[in-house]
Amino acid sequence: MKKIALLLPLLAIIALLAAAHPVSAEYADIILKSKIESMQKAGVKPVMFPHWFHRIRFKCKVCHEDIFILKAGANDITMKKIMEGEFCGKCHNGLIAWEPIYCDRCHSYQGQ
Ligand code: HEC
Ligand code: HEC
Ligand code: HEC
Repeated sequence: MKKIALLLPLLAIIALLAAAHPVSAEYADIILKSKIESMQKAGVKPVMFPHWFHRIRFKCKVCHEDIFILKAGANDITMKKIMEGEFCGKCHNGLIAWEPIYCDRCHSYQGQ
């Protein structure tokens, strides 16, 4: 009995530690800037993707991994592809969500 009493808080701590990692990735905004040079040339800021905003509206499997590989920076996203209905353009097409003509709504990251 005593052993179990000691074990339970330990298990709770382990569970908390295990949960701590994905929290930062899944709840935070994701900055997309692998194409930073082209974006600078075009005069737009890096992209700030509000992951949580989307997560509460769609199930994970809507996006992962049919639209986006589950790893920050692993998707080769260009505006041409978005305009052709890939990646963000699967929804930002004027039907499910607003069209990708409002540059600053996505290119809104204030940092570098
Ligand atoms: C509307 C689309 C969308 C939905 C829904 C969505 N995600 Fe994502 N997720 C993304 C995008 C975009 C990225 C960033 C990919 C990149 O950087 O190339 C991402 C990245 C991630 C990452 C990687 C983060 C990192 O730092 O490597 C994880 C983990 C993740 N998502 C988990 C989830 C889980 C769990 C759910 C459901 C609860 C979910 N996502 C729902 C679009 C979505
Ligand atoms: C599965 C569909 C889906 C995908 C994929 C998707 N979005 Fe969205 N997004 C939406 C919907 C729906 C809204 C809400 C539109 C509205 O309010 O009219 C939205 C809203 C937004 C907003 C505004 C959030 C706010 O606070 O109002 C931003 C910014 C955004 N999306 C960026 C992106 C970027 C960047 C990508 C690609 C990396 C992306 N989205 C991919 C469906 C999607
Ligand atoms: C729905 C969200 C969204 C909108 C709206 C949007 N973009 Fe993007 N854009 C992205 C994402 C995501 C990337 C990929 C960023 C990365 O991975 O570095 C990107 C990449 C780019 C790039 C670099 C890659 C390439 O295709 O050359 C340029 C330049 C760019 N955007 C310009 C624009 C301009 C100009 C507008 C307005 C006409 C615009 N974007 C509107 C999401 C968006």
